[in-house]
Amino acid sequence: MIEIVPSILSADFARLADDIARVERGGAKMLHLDVMDGHFVPNLTIGPPVVESVRKATKLHLDVHLMIENPERFVTAFVQAGANSVSVHYEATRHLDGVLGMIRKAGAMAGVVLNPATPVAVLEEVVEVADYVLLMSVNPGFGGQKLIPYVLQKVRRLAALRREKRLALPIEIDGGVHKENLAEVVRAGCDWIVTGSAIFHSADPEATLREMREIAVQAAGVVC
Ligand code: DX5
Ligand code: ZN
Repeated sequence: MIEIVPSILSADFARLADDIARVERGGAKMLHLDVMDGHFVPNLTIGPPVVESVRKATKLHLDVHLMIENPERFVTAFVQAGANSVSVHYEATRHLDGVLGMIRKAGAMAGVVLNPATPVAVLEEVVEVADYVLLMSVNPGFGGQKLIPYVLQKVRRLAALRREKRLALPIEIDGGVHKENLAEVVRAGCDWIVTGSAIFHSADPEATLREMREIAVQAAGVVC
């Protein structure tokens, strides 16, 4: 099932509950929350207290993306705050298998994230123990960037690895996706499609989300 996953990074943080309600009305099933520590990426955003507040404001699946160094320090706190899935960067920890185990033990889905230049090949083993894989299609840290085209080749390689290992894990893509490139992103093999500025910087986030869901369904050739 293809999901369009709004990223709140581009939402209005002074009216977060209103913006979340808009994408709920637009049919969102998941919400993407970008956590940045100013070290792993040159930006600083939110922590567990904001996830806790968002948890009280919505029943959507909360998909927390940790762009932080040594994520093992915080994964449990984000799950306890209400995260349903937590993804950590391959590049941000020495003990990736251990961190994924911590997330699962805390009760959430465990995802691994690759920066654009990190090859899919590094996932050869860990893809067996991850619940999903997030491929960054921009260099992490900011919304509103352009999708890096070669990442679609990585999506295709990961989809082939998934088939070869007979796995069902969702492929998530994050960064620079909008109405015009969405069909190509879906056809490359993505299941969870994060999009922030295309939704929240549009005149009508609810309508934009509906349109993007329609484009994705058409591109996937499925009726749901
Ligand atoms: C960037 C974040 C993305 C970003 C997506 O570091 O991980 O989730 O918010 O925003 P857009 O869709 O505007 O590229
Ligand atoms: Zn993200």
